[in-house]
Amino acid sequence: MSGKYLVTGGAGYVGSVVATHLLEAGHEVTVLDDLSTGFREAVPAGAEFIEGRVHDAVKWLDPSYDAVLHFAASSQVGESVAKPEKYWDNNVGGSMALLEAMRAAEVRRLVFSSTAATYGEPVSTPITETDPTAPTSPYGATKLAVDHMIAGECAAHGLAAVSLRYFNVAGAYGSYGERHEPESHLIPLVLRVALGKRESIAVYGEDYPTPDGTCVRDYIHVADLADAHLLALKAAVAGEHLVCNLGNGSGFSVREVIETVRTVTGHPVPEVVAARRPGDPAVLVASAATARERLGWSPSRADLAGIVADAWAFARREETHG
Ligand SMILES: NC(=O)c1ccc[n+]([C@@H]2O[C@H](COP(=O)([O-])OP(=O)(O)OC[C@H]3O[C@@H](n4cnc5c(N)ncnc54)[C@H](O)[C@@H]3O)[C@@H](O)[C@H]2O)c1
Repeated sequence: MSGKYLVTGGAGYVGSVVATHLLEAGHEVTVLDDLSTGFREAVPAGAEFIEGRVHDAVKWLDPSYDAVLHFAASSQVGESVAKPEKYWDNNVGGSMALLEAMRAAEVRRLVFSSTAATYGEPVSTPITETDPTAPTSPYGATKLAVDHMIAGECAAHGLAAVSLRYFNVAGAYGSYGERHEPESHLIPLVLRVALGKRESIAVYGEDYPTPDGTCVRDYIHVADLADAHLLALKAAVAGEHLVCNLGNGSGFSVREVIETVRTVTGHPVPEVVAARRPGDPAVLVASAATARERLGWSPSRADLAGIVADAWAFARREETHG
């Protein structure tokens, strides 16, 4: 059955890919985005577009919507350390206003973009949803605060909600891909070196207790992530806040990613070893058991070379079309 969905942050990387998947599945989509880090041209054709802030969602949300998918947020860890007030206002203030607007319009279904950053330094690997949450940045703290806010809304007011805790989202879906500025994610940064836009890639630490000494992360293809959102819309149950990690359950080291980029692109990628960055855990890998059991989700694009190849196709397309 087709539905009508409000996608906040649908002009951004993940939101535009999920909005595209919703449209492809025959749903009606409205994107609400203030274009603070997103792009008007990333809003998929076929979606209605409202340029505005989540804080003002009450102006647009009405009972005709079946659910909200909430991507809109500020998400640069470093910036959140320098400007925590921006993160509390945008991520927590914006989400609080959105929940109020949903209550007023009686829209009772929500999928929220949470993050692995809510866990902080992991106590064990792979990370499960019942592991302790101890974020090491204001970004992670604001996302965890929103998770708590949503849990209260479910318990008190019967909201049906799923928080998806993404690990490292990567890859592209056709003409929708990653365009963060500044870019802090490893794969697009290494691809910029392959494109000749940066001289080298920094490897922060090669003395971690991992097989090759560099940090290990769990990379999930953005299209697999999008599939999980559509499943989460169906799995949400009134009065319950379901929290699901989203990762492939296996990790790749920084060196493996760089080597894969060399193989896929055929370009040399010079690397420079630098000191460890404070707060960078050695290994961040998700247990995807809850997503499998509760959402019926399984990734079909977990191969790192495939993820890199899709991101590379997008990066070259951006280079050509600007
Ligand atoms: N990309 C990742 O690896 C990753 C990992 C974990 C969690 N997340 C979360 O996923 C979500 C999407 O991330 P992304 O990488 O697509 O980021 P993005 O910056 O590309 O997209 C965010 C979008 O939200 C919009 N926005 C921000 N504040 C807004 C507001 N107050 N009102 C309306 N629009 C607003 C921006 O203009 C942008 O289009 C974020 O909530 C992020 O915290 C992303």
